[in-house]
Amino acid sequence: MSATPAPRGDFPILARTVRRGLPLVYLDSGATSQRPQRVLDAVRAMDTQHNGAVKRGAHLLAEEASEAYERAREQVAAFIGAAPDEIVWASGSTQAINLVAYAMSNVSAGRGDSVESRRGVDPHVFSVGPGDVIVTTRAEHHANIIPWQELCLRTGATLRWLDLDAEGRIDLSTLDRIDEHTKLVAFTHVSNVSGAISPVAQIVEAARKVGALTFLDACQSVPHIPVDFHELGVDFAAFSGHKMLGPTGIGALYGRAELLRALPPYQFGGSMIEVVTMEKTTYADPPARFEAGTMPVAQAIGMGEAAVYLTEIGMDKIARYEAELTRRMLASLTKMPGIRILGPEGESNRTGAVAFAVDGVHPHDVGQFLDSKGIAVRVGHHCAQPIHQHFGVFASTRASLGPYNTVEEVDYFVESLAEVRRYFRVED
Ligand code: ALA
Repeated sequence: MSATPAPRGDFPILARTVRRGLPLVYLDSGATSQRPQRVLDAVRAMDTQHNGAVKRGAHLLAEEASEAYERAREQVAAFIGAAPDEIVWASGSTQAINLVAYAMSNVSAGRGDSVESRRGVDPHVFSVGPGDVIVTTRAEHHANIIPWQELCLRTGATLRWLDLDAEGRIDLSTLDRIDEHTKLVAFTHVSNVSGAISPVAQIVEAARKVGALTFLDACQSVPHIPVDFHELGVDFAAFSGHKMLGPTGIGALYGRAELLRALPPYQFGGSMIEVVTMEKTTYADPPARFEAGTMPVAQAIGMGEAAVYLTEIGMDKIARYEAELTRRMLASLTKMPGIRILGPEGESNRTGAVAFAVDGVHPHDVGQFLDSKGIAVRVGHHCAQPIHQHFGVFASTRASLGPYNTVEEVDYFVESLAEVRRYFRVED
């Protein structure tokens, strides 16, 4: 078996068998990735050795838990080129996006002064109302569309979107939809369907020109290519632990420090305050301001360990390796009769999330057929209906790669897929 950047032996689940005792071929990392033993151990060590309430106790366990929690924040921050106080823990990308959308609602509803315009940015930069525009793109998964639709419905602002070209890449001729009315541009770094990498620099430049904020959904990029949010120049970003070899239930919001300081909270409770009286509350500085209540501490520590694990392997190395597997997969799929790739057919400027339609066979049947061979792929609309509408299909099958997949697995997937149309008797 070929060597993988993430050694397969690190991942206990990859040794299991599935249907009829077949080895597992896991090609669904775009939905959720598998976890190395180190991450599982870090979570378990927290639960069995160090569990205590974070920042709430004077005892040793509380101290150890608090230290581990903040160390994990530093590890995740270092992984994406940010400062620790620019990382807010969230339950995942979805919550991170909702956090900003709801915080913007709070400013729009007159609560911008709840953080007293701390040091620099005027919180009213987050205020939206009638006449204002939020821009997103048709390439987004639902978590980066619906929170903005709802923000517009609550405030009277208008939602616009950038459209896509035939390959599913963001069509730069629609960039003029970002105009002087635009307050925020929310866009994906990598589409979870087409795998296309977005033209971040051009979109950020267009947003800056009109004074709009930018929000990057990075949950499909951070696990697969080197990412540095300062270099990309975005104002906010979100990414998930479980897609980057970490636990479920944890993710992160990145925000430029001065913007986070000006953003009011969206959830209220313990650990996010300075002073509470029966009349009034003042709020803590970020990131605590956005971490009300008891957070998923062990999971945060697991995400920190995943960040260290990926850093030690090297994201450059992972990106190069996955690009090679993607090239190999696409080279076969593009020649296969009855297969239509929903995304760029070449491996450049894209990642290894490869969605496709099989002529005459429903994606669920494709998925079940592959499952009978031990191959796990995702089927359906992948929580991204608008991009499927763009491609003129309701649903698709998606193979998505991780740093533990082998050349042999890709070849086995390709051979198995080549049998699907014969099996369902729809060959030309
Ligand atoms: N997590 C969803 C996926 O599978 C969006 O891509």
